[in-house]
Amino acid sequence: MIIAIDGHSSCGKSTIAKALAKRLGYTYVDTGAMYRAVTFFCQQNNLIQNGVVDENALKQRIDEINISFALNSNTQQQDTYLNGINVEKQIRSMEVAHDVSNVSKIGFVRKAMVEKQQKYGESANVVMDGRDIGTVVFPHADYKFFVTASPEVRAQRRYDELMAKEGHANYNEILENLKQRDFIDTTRAESPLRQADDAILVDTSNMTREGQLEWILSKIQ
Ligand code: DC
Repeated sequence: MIIAIDGHSSCGKSTIAKALAKRLGYTYVDTGAMYRAVTFFCQQNNLIQNGVVDENALKQRIDEINISFALNSNTQQQDTYLNGINVEKQIRSMEVAHDVSNVSKIGFVRKAMVEKQQKYGESANVVMDGRDIGTVVFPHADYKFFVTASPEVRAQRRYDELMAKEGHANYNEILENLKQRDFIDTTRAESPLRQADDAILVDTSNMTREGQLEWILSKIQ
């Protein structure tokens, strides 16, 4: 069983996907974390300067990038590992958020990630969230949801999250970054973000987390 959850940045997709996976006993796969980990790798290895990726150099090193997930026993959430090192905190930073759309629009990066994602779906029941899960990774997914909310609602949620985690955040910077990422994600040539024809739309602007989960469950049971 494959449940695909796509949608805009910071619209609550991953919260819904995690809760759904937990409720159903499925494996949750955060594909955004994979693109974020590749971005962090680029930043650490000077493969990106002012938002411009050295694509030739990255292409030569793409096989060096090994991404995995493991359960964090404190948070009961999956943490992301890059070449065996826990990078969960680093990949959620604003620095990574700034560059991730420029990395994830590269065709060979997407190809490598999509292959890994398809492998996850071969061996387990999965809830996978991202941008192209219902359109490219699993066009025949059993259920597809497309999640969205207004940019202001999304920015406020991200602001609250960063404030709780790090004690500082800038609402305007977050809103601009979201709009910028929406633009790049929806207009890129490779697998642009779009609602699959057979995906069910979920607008979370006025829904509580519990409400979202129950609503989605009602569609799949
Ligand atoms: O879901 P997220 O915000 O963590 O995703 C980070 C970035 O990765 C987002 O700006 C677009 C990109 N992404 C993608 O292109 N395809 C996916 N399947 C998942 C994420």
